[in-house]
Amino acid sequence: MTPVTVRVPAKVNLQLSVGPPRGDGYHDLVTVFHAVSLFDEVSVRPAERTSVVVTGEDAASVPAGRANLAARAARALATASMRRRGKAAVRIEIRKRIPVAAGLAGGSADAAATLVACNELWGAGLTQPELREVAASVGSDVPFALLGGTAIGQGRGEQLTAALAAGTYHWVLAFASGGLSTPEVYATCDRLRAARAAADRRDSTGQAGPAEEADQPRLSTELMAALRSGDPAAVGPLLNNDLQPAAVSLRPDLRRALNAGRDHGALGAMVSGSGPTCAFLAADARRARELAVALTGAGVCRAVAQVKGPAAGAAIVPAERR
Ligand code: C5P
Repeated sequence: MTPVTVRVPAKVNLQLSVGPPRGDGYHDLVTVFHAVSLFDEVSVRPAERTSVVVTGEDAASVPAGRANLAARAARALATASMRRRGKAAVRIEIRKRIPVAAGLAGGSADAAATLVACNELWGAGLTQPELREVAASVGSDVPFALLGGTAIGQGRGEQLTAALAAGTYHWVLAFASGGLSTPEVYATCDRLRAARAAADRRDSTGQAGPAEEADQPRLSTELMAALRSGDPAAVGPLLNNDLQPAAVSLRPDLRRALNAGRDHGALGAMVSGSGPTCAFLAADARRARELAVALTGAGVCRAVAQVKGPAAGAAIVPAERR
């Protein structure tokens, strides 16, 4: 049987507004997801038992076997489509270009691609909304990797509304060496906020009081208007990531990369998601190329990639194009 291959994009968050921690270990958030043209490819074929084989960028740091998010996605789809156990095993091959633990949702992308691929391989017939529900059970960023484009995420990030965004945006991604743990970045964000709130209270009352809750997350209407205009010069200054101070405090070297990008003409500079990748918005393709060269020359990152957004979500690659 021929394998089914799916191509799936990385994402950056144009806005990431993080609320206080919830009882279940997550944070309510409002985010603007934006898929970019850096793709992983995932192929699935029937097998005796489920396995995951990873090649390409960072292959050794991807968790193998049952702990892998793609393997979890295959199991979740088998359960949702009531596939008999003996018929649900697949060999999953991931060709990685999206770096691991980089704030680009690479693992979530592979999970989303696996859902689309297994749905096709098994003829399971789940609709997009049904797939999205299974995706949300696998991880907060997985539903967006199915959808792609530019979209507002709420709740844990899994409740999506497509956003009205005009034009094409040119980005340079600066990859750092090593990754960051998403739970650790969220926990650091909580700690920094608690410390700041305590310091503010000390300043105003002369003594430390009980901790206050962080503000509820809020969508930037200014950013949404800028996205509708399609003008990168309007979008750049409005990029905002509440996790950035936490990522920078865990990786102070990121400050140098962000400053280098701004110094070399980026319209906006931010840490992507929970980091450590930094994303820089350029005015056009030529300026993105110049920025990529300058960042490489400045020696502030491990590697750079020039990408465009918005990119389409997880999609089957027709056999003749493989
Ligand atoms: O949903 P996912 O498994 O990708 O989330 C990974 C971790 O990121 C969670 O365990 C949690 O620590 C953190 N997270 C969060 N709030 C969110 C999304 C993720 O605290 N909205």
